[in-house]
Amino acid sequence: MAEIVIVPDAAAAGALVADEIARLIRRTPDVVLGLATGSTPVPVYEALPERLQGLDLSSVRGFALDEYVGLDPAHPESYRSVIAREVIEPLGLDPARIRVPDGRLQGIQHAGEDYEAALGAAGGVELQLLGIGTDGHIGFNEPGSSFASLTRVKTLTEQTRSDNARFFDSIDDVPRHCITQGLGTILRAGHLVLLAFGDSKAEAVAGAVEGPVTASLPASAIQLHPHATVVIDEEAASGLRFADYYRYTFDNKPEWQGL
Ligand code: GLP
Repeated sequence: MAEIVIVPDAAAAGALVADEIARLIRRTPDVVLGLATGSTPVPVYEALPERLQGLDLSSVRGFALDEYVGLDPAHPESYRSVIAREVIEPLGLDPARIRVPDGRLQGIQHAGEDYEAALGAAGGVELQLLGIGTDGHIGFNEPGSSFASLTRVKTLTEQTRSDNARFFDSIDDVPRHCITQGLGTILRAGHLVLLAFGDSKAEAVAGAVEGPVTASLPASAIQLHPHATVVIDEEAASGLRFADYYRYTFDNKPEWQGL
């Protein structure tokens, strides 16, 4: 099963995961990182600059999980813009080495295949950051997504559209379709790091970690991965049956094991 790490707050989660990313970049300067959007990974991105000081980041590569379909890439809430603003610019990464699925209507029929080909050519993602939707989605893999799915176009649930309406002027502006790495794509990454904060994620986290493995809760796919780490605050952990055991395990973890 996944390793569950319960931290006091989002900043502590950001520090823990940023340490691991910094370690990877030091070891492999052209590491391929799996980037996520939404509010959840922000504490990781904020913790990175301090840890990456003095490192040459010019060959770091990255692949985002997903993108809205039909939204102008220049729109401030396109995931291309979000990744540029939150990751590429503050860290000073080479924009040519950071890819986001292409959600433009022109070419959308082959955008999924193209993205898979680029991921394959890069040798795959080493560490994949993941948030989780209140309906249990990862990337934009909504309930019912096949565990074997690859990057493709999906229809957003109304719950996801309403959760994401806060980033737009009104819910009517939230696109209905997205292009997302599939669960099969995500499961190929070397290490999955799923983060979640707050009460609103407690039910989805409990289902993903302790519930049955089911396409009805796409994040439960992480149970199939040999190296998955779930970093959550107390609120997001509040639905877990075995929280005390997870705390005990982490507190007694041998130093050499790393994250
Ligand atoms: C978004 C993204 C996901 C993200 C999730 C949670 O719609 N597509 O990658 O993990 O929903 O978002 P947040 O982190 O803002 O709660």
